[in-house]
Amino acid sequence: MKIITTVGEMQAACRSLRRVGTLGLVPTMGALHDGHLSLVQRAKAENDAVAVSIFVNPTQFAPGEDFETYPRRMAEDCARLEAAGVALLFAPAVEEVYPSGAATFVEVAGLGDRLDGASRPGHFRGVATVVAKLFHVVDPDRAYFGQKDAAQVAVLQAMVRDLLFSVKLVVCPIVREPSGLAMSSRNLNLSAVEKERALALSRALQAAERVWAGGETQATALRAAMLSQLSSEAGVRLDYAEVVHPATLLPVADSQQGALLAVAAWVGQTRLIDNLLVERPSAEPLSAAPAAAEEVEAMHV
Ligand code: PAJ
Repeated sequence: MKIITTVGEMQAACRSLRRVGTLGLVPTMGALHDGHLSLVQRAKAENDAVAVSIFVNPTQFAPGEDFETYPRRMAEDCARLEAAGVALLFAPAVEEVYPSGAATFVEVAGLGDRLDGASRPGHFRGVATVVAKLFHVVDPDRAYFGQKDAAQVAVLQAMVRDLLFSVKLVVCPIVREPSGLAMSSRNLNLSAVEKERALALSRALQAAERVWAGGETQATALRAAMLSQLSSEAGVRLDYAEVVHPATLLPVADSQQGALLAVAAWVGQTRLIDNLLVERPSAEPLSAAPAAAEEVEAMHV
């Protein structure tokens, strides 16, 4: 595996790989776990070569958020990626990605202000900007993202559509610990007690899914099921528990046709997110076909 820190070298290396085959990109912020590795494996299976980026992107953290304490594990990450058969690791410094005076940002209006975008203003502007830069540097055939960050997926799908990127986004399922806890680099910052408390998030989603599977599809009932789990765990502070359309991220009143159940909560100093898609097996995939009215609304906010 070649480790590259400059934009120029990365562009050249990607160009030569693309000349002889397809290239898959897995963007990450490092402190890699099996969730990240599942994206790498999928990318390996579907492309001739795989590039991974590790970059803790400052612009997606607001002042006062956990940019400084975000886990960094470069040596371990390199070993895992090498073993996984990754061809290129791009690990640039901040100044390489944001040259002095950088003043150009990518903002996905509407979508970027929903769910995590509502609680973390500017977060998705930072995400869209850095992912657009990575797409320019790597120019991958496919790029791999986790359903774990469902709102991020919706924002990036809109960005790719709007900015006419030719990359294909591939969305991979959430990888969980045996306990049900969604894997996250931030889990490294949880104590043993907090890790136990953090199970309230996945339990909340499971409780709502049971309600939905039982035939109650009103969002008020699903939210009540999530809130009762989240509020029953001391030390867990709710950020949001929502029932939304997975593509528009707008609230859905009745989830008869399916919906994205999304939660975010603070466990001590750590903010965690999780989600679950409820869908009828026979229905059209929701993410592919947003309802026309919601789409129009999303375009005008
Ligand atoms: P990061 O949190 O490191 O995640 C990198 C990718 O791994 C994302 O697409 C994320 O959804 C996926 N991922 C994380 N945990 C997962 C899990 N448990 N199961 C499956 N996939 C999982 O997301 C980011 O970094 C950044 O915002 C980034 C896109 C790199 C831009 O800076």
